[in-house]
Amino acid sequence: MATNKKPILNELFETRNSHTEEAEEIKKEDFIKTVKSRRSVRNYSDEPVLEKDMKACLELALLAPNSSNLQPWEFYWVRSQEKKNKLISYCLGQPAASTAQELVVAVARPDYWKVNQKRMLELIGEMGEKAPKSVKKYYGRIVPLAYNQGWFSLRGYLKKIAMEIRGIKTPTPREPYNKKGMSVWAHKSTALACENLMLSLRAYGYDSCPMEGIDSKRIKKLLNLKSPAEISMVVSAGKRAKNGVYGKQVRFNSSYFIHEV
Ligand SMILES: Cc1cc2nc3c(=O)[nH]c(=O)nc-3n(C[C@H](O)[C@H](O)[C@H](O)COP(=O)(O)O)c2cc1C
Repeated sequence: MATNKKPILNELFETRNSHTEEAEEIKKEDFIKTVKSRRSVRNYSDEPVLEKDMKACLELALLAPNSSNLQPWEFYWVRSQEKKNKLISYCLGQPAASTAQELVVAVARPDYWKVNQKRMLELIGEMGEKAPKSVKKYYGRIVPLAYNQGWFSLRGYLKKIAMEIRGIKTPTPREPYNKKGMSVWAHKSTALACENLMLSLRAYGYDSCPMEGIDSKRIKKLLNLKSPAEISMVVSAGKRAKNGVYGKQVRFNSSYFIHEV
């Protein structure tokens, strides 16, 4: 039976939008070169990373797409030598850390749905009448519905039951509904920002290595972080030494992974 009721996301994102933004022309060769020449580098040269370049790459990391634009991440660029020495040992002394010029700890913040919802509502408030109603509704009502899992995730599990019932007949948003789901939620966006960071470093002439072979508990303590903050990975940066890359890049046949259905 046909119904006039629009799916909620259609209602929110319908294009009454007057903002226009041209898609910039990109030289695809440069992008392909950046992606293809990014390798995980385990030995860096002594050449420093310019402070302004590091800052620019970190700013570019923050331009990564992220869930509901709630930016559930933090990046700790560890600059104090004392902390850096500790961080190297918490990266288990890996050469990718010990020879690096710079180290950045990427932290997933499941709790930032609330922190940044508040910031977003403040921004919307400042826009006054100009703020689209749909945006107010999204950040005011939908965001808590989606991300507030409540005490011991009780709210989340109730939501899950409701969504399971609704989902029998209708396509329905489901995750996240508990603490683990919120952790996945924050890590997804944080990892995208890490990729932005690593590609940016490459584009600026540097190299990088993501690391999860780390003592996350000690790193959290070093950075004075409490749960629910979680260490996503540590990204090292510098210029590759001659023997910095351990071998040719290996990927399995793309037919294992890319499916046209
Ligand atoms: C989440 C994640 C964690 C990783 N952890 C480590 C690590 O602890 N140490 C390391 O040397 N490389 C680490 N790597 C790098 C991978 O080993 C590397 O990306 C993979 O072997 C492919 O090589 P490529 O990056 O040069 O293409 C990690 C990569 C990712 C994405």
